Amino acid sequence: MGCRIAGCGKALPQLAVTNDDLAQLVDTSDEWIVERTGIHRRHIAIGETATDLAAAACTDALARADLAPADIDLLICMTISPDSVVPSQASLIRARIGLDNAIAFDLNAACTGCIYGMEVASTMIEASMLSQGVASPLAHRRNPLRRALVVGAERLSRITDWSDRATCVLFGDGAGAVVLEWSEEAPGILASFLKNTDDDTLCLTCDQSFDMSTFPFAEGAACESVGAVMGIQAVDKEGNPAGIAPHLPFIRMQGQRVFKFATAAIVEAAREVCERAGVSLDEVSCIVPHQANDRIIRYAAKKLGVPYERWQVSIGEVGNTSASSVLMALSDAYAAGRIQAGDKVMLVGFGGGLTSGALLFVA
Ligand code: ACO
Repeated sequence: MGCRIAGCGKALPQLAVTNDDLAQLVDTSDEWIVERTGIHRRHIAIGETATDLAAAACTDALARADLAPADIDLLICMTISPDSVVPSQASLIRARIGLDNAIAFDLNAACTGCIYGMEVASTMIEASMLSQGVASPLAHRRNPLRRALVVGAERLSRITDWSDRATCVLFGDGAGAVVLEWSEEAPGILASFLKNTDDDTLCLTCDQSFDMSTFPFAEGAACESVGAVMGIQAVDKEGNPAGIAPHLPFIRMQGQRVFKFATAAIVEAAREVCERAGVSLDEVSCIVPHQANDRIIRYAAKKLGVPYERWQVSIGEVGNTSASSVLMALSDAYAAGRIQAGDKVMLVGFGGGLTSGALLFVA
């Protein structure tokens, strides 16, 4: 028994923006972007909201699972770029597609969001199902939860600095969703591994802009920034103060530092989740990693000794879509027929926080 993946879906905005298009905005080239990242184009939402994209991905996943909105008991939305903070992004999606029986909330674990979201949803479902009908006085009575929609929805274009070539070529918009369902027969999720590491050089941030100069109780005060909150300063690749405008609400990244973290994190998470499941990497037929950089995937493939052909690589068409990335890539893997019933599949991610993790399931 366990939580099985019942269906998967994705949605992209209509507008595709090529590397050549970006070369009109900043000093970059198609050659540089393809060679350093593997990205050819990304989709940018100009007519779509995060709610539109998430609703489309969820509807796709429900159709593939042959379920109706009323069948869903829980909705978790992972995002760092919601349409609003209150109501939560999940509440907006719930209302849009009529998930009348679902509780709904948001979760932020940046690009590892999908792994965290699936872990939280499956843990809640397992706890709920296992406590039903248990006579023990210790049994905790809960909401009956049998099925969950877990959706990543990002409009990173709204928190991208379109004048910063170091970041603007990397990100894209989109949504990916998965339906998790309790099953008495299927093993479903075999193991998970979640980890947080302090970002003590602020290599990956997105500040909440709050201009204290407009605050009536502190005339002339400086803008708040994550560096001031943490009492540390961002540093560049040589360890010198990074000198970035810290209070602007854009994704800021020290690429090489994140690259170093990412390559170590992906390898560690993949090994740990296999060890917890008692499964060897050779038995995993498809690995679906966070799509941040094709070079990170190639490095991990080599280091782990898992042929590149067994990794789902979707980054070329969509760029880095943060919390949506792994679920969009999972949807691609299913659509391409790369995952068959009974296959062992690994999801693995890393991102801001810093966060990292992996999840292993039987399809
Ligand atoms: N076009 C042309 N040149 C560029 C561009 C660009 N778009 N961006 C940077 N450069 C230049 C730099 O200025 C630098 O020039 P210099 O040598 O004269 O100083 C040179 O290219 C090399 O820059 P690096 O930053 O060292 O390039 P690198 O090979 O590290 O690639 C990249 C940069 C793609 C960002 C890489 O470091 C990376 O992928 N990092 C990890 C990103 C990641 O995994 N993010 C995941 C989390 S995202 C999230 O959680 C939201």
